[in-house]
Amino acid sequence: MNDWRSHFGFHTTPFTRELAVAQRFPLPMFDEVLTALSRAVDQRGSAALVAPAGTGKTALLRALVDQLPEARYRVHYVKVTDLSKRDLCREIAVACGAQPAGSFPMLVRRLQEHFLSTLADDGVRPVLVLDDSHGLRPEVLGIFQILTNFEMDSRLVLSVLFVGQPPLRDLLRQPAHEAVTRRLVHLATLRLLSRPESHRYLAHRCTIAGATTIPFDPGAQEAVYEIACGNLRATDQLAAKALEVAHDAGAAIVDSAHLATSRRLLWP
Ligand SMILES: Nc1ncnc2c1ncn2[C@@H]1O[C@H](COP(=O)(O)OP(=O)(O)O)[C@@H](O)[C@H]1O
Ligand SMILES: [Mg+2]
Repeated sequence: MNDWRSHFGFHTTPFTRELAVAQRFPLPMFDEVLTALSRAVDQRGSAALVAPAGTGKTALLRALVDQLPEARYRVHYVKVTDLSKRDLCREIAVACGAQPAGSFPMLVRRLQEHFLSTLADDGVRPVLVLDDSHGLRPEVLGIFQILTNFEMDSRLVLSVLFVGQPPLRDLLRQPAHEAVTRRLVHLATLRLLSRPESHRYLAHRCTIAGATTIPFDPGAQEAVYEIACGNLRATDQLAAKALEVAHDAGAAIVDSAHLATSRRLLWP
């Protein structure tokens, strides 16, 4: 690989979104959230994970799916977009492998039957993950009260995980949605990395891409933290761009000037 990657001793592309679950950056915060969400699902409850964009929510969901035993759970992942009740139910039906046709009441009934039969026939617990739930239209939230209500609320069948950015918290707080919010057994969050964590994160992402030395000098590492403020996605974008910039300048290591240039090339 005769390009910027090999120039800095990488075997694969560093700072990529294509991150294997096993190569995640280990942090107690991630483990705590994973444990809390697995526990919620284990008791067939629903839960929410609310954190800013780029803090690792979707990556954590992949780890959760990976860790839930396939023999006991069937996880359906839906990325929420601005949809009506009926269209969202259709999306959920597609994710579940149910027929996505019919009126809204019919779709809801079909989904409930689908979740019930998953549990009854196979003994497998259905889990519905709604990523980017902050994009749910307020009037749509009510369907989860219906979808999680079985036999006049006497049976727990479906777990729903609402995952999204901070506006999701406001959505859940609205009095109109109290019936849904009352069903949540846990509210988790993720924070930005601290300065030392950001430095360790940089080193981790370089190491898993095959580098034996970290090609960011101390000033560059500081600059990454100052600019990205511990946001994982911003850190990735910035670090990847800085490697390109430093390579194009013929530098052996990334310094803070390369970071300043990268910031200008990435963000207005
Ligand atoms: N635990 C982790 N270890 C390493 N990198 C991570 C981890 N979590 C997230 N990332 C990186 O940060 C980026 C943003 O994470 P993502 O899960 O998409 O954030 P969110 O869903 O909160 O917007 C991802 O592209 C991934 O490369
Ligand atoms: Mg995400």
